[in-house]
Amino acid sequence: MMNIEVVLSPALLHLSDISSKNVVVIDILRATSTICTAIHEGAEAVKAVKDVEQAKALGVQGYITAAERNGQKIDGFDMGNSPFECMNGAVLGKKIALTTTNGTKCIEAAANAGAANVLSGSFLNLDATVDWLVKDGRDVVLFCAGWKDSFNLEDTLFAGSMASMLSDKTACLIDCDAALMSIDLYNLAKGNLMDYLKKSSHYKRLSHLHHDEDMVYCLQGSIFQTVVGVVDTEMKKM
Ligand code: MLT
Repeated sequence: MMNIEVVLSPALLHLSDISSKNVVVIDILRATSTICTAIHEGAEAVKAVKDVEQAKALGVQGYITAAERNGQKIDGFDMGNSPFECMNGAVLGKKIALTTTNGTKCIEAAANAGAANVLSGSFLNLDATVDWLVKDGRDVVLFCAGWKDSFNLEDTLFAGSMASMLSDKTACLIDCDAALMSIDLYNLAKGNLMDYLKKSSHYKRLSHLHHDEDMVYCLQGSIFQTVVGVVDTEMKKM
């Protein structure tokens, strides 16, 4: 019986024992969606780092450098955090060093806390990731990146959709209130996710920065089958 837990914010991670469990890090808008896109588009790996300085140092070693803070690209870096910057062969065969406001620090935190596997969760490869988790069978922690340690709607909605799909596909125990709430929220919004998310703080933030195309892209369901997770400290095809 697979136990499913949802962690709504990095500030709550210490309350959960994620060791030897499969952890899906969720930053729908946009870090984990961009990571999944980069790998699907043929990048060799994405090294998720917390600090800007770490990303710069990896740039010296030949990585493409990608950095975002508060939804904006940081000057002096090769890329920001838009999935579109990974297309048309831009990252083919390359390694990327990525630092973002929330998502990349969550990937580091999950890896450092002894998770069995750390996967990058996105709507773009939802079906494939669910099938991978069902096949592996270990307990699952759906880890929402949120916004600066606060809860956010888009990551929680995704956690609800994944928890719901897992419980449709395998025997699950869901007695975590955060998981139950996220499933209810997903059922409330699933008719039109974009319409529902237009009220969210990060949707407004990114829309103000003219990233509307990115959000439409990131909400597409299962458009590719690539499962992405940490292999040798970097995000790669699983
Ligand atoms: C994050 O890490 O907080 C997000 O991915 C930020 C963004 O891309 O807007």
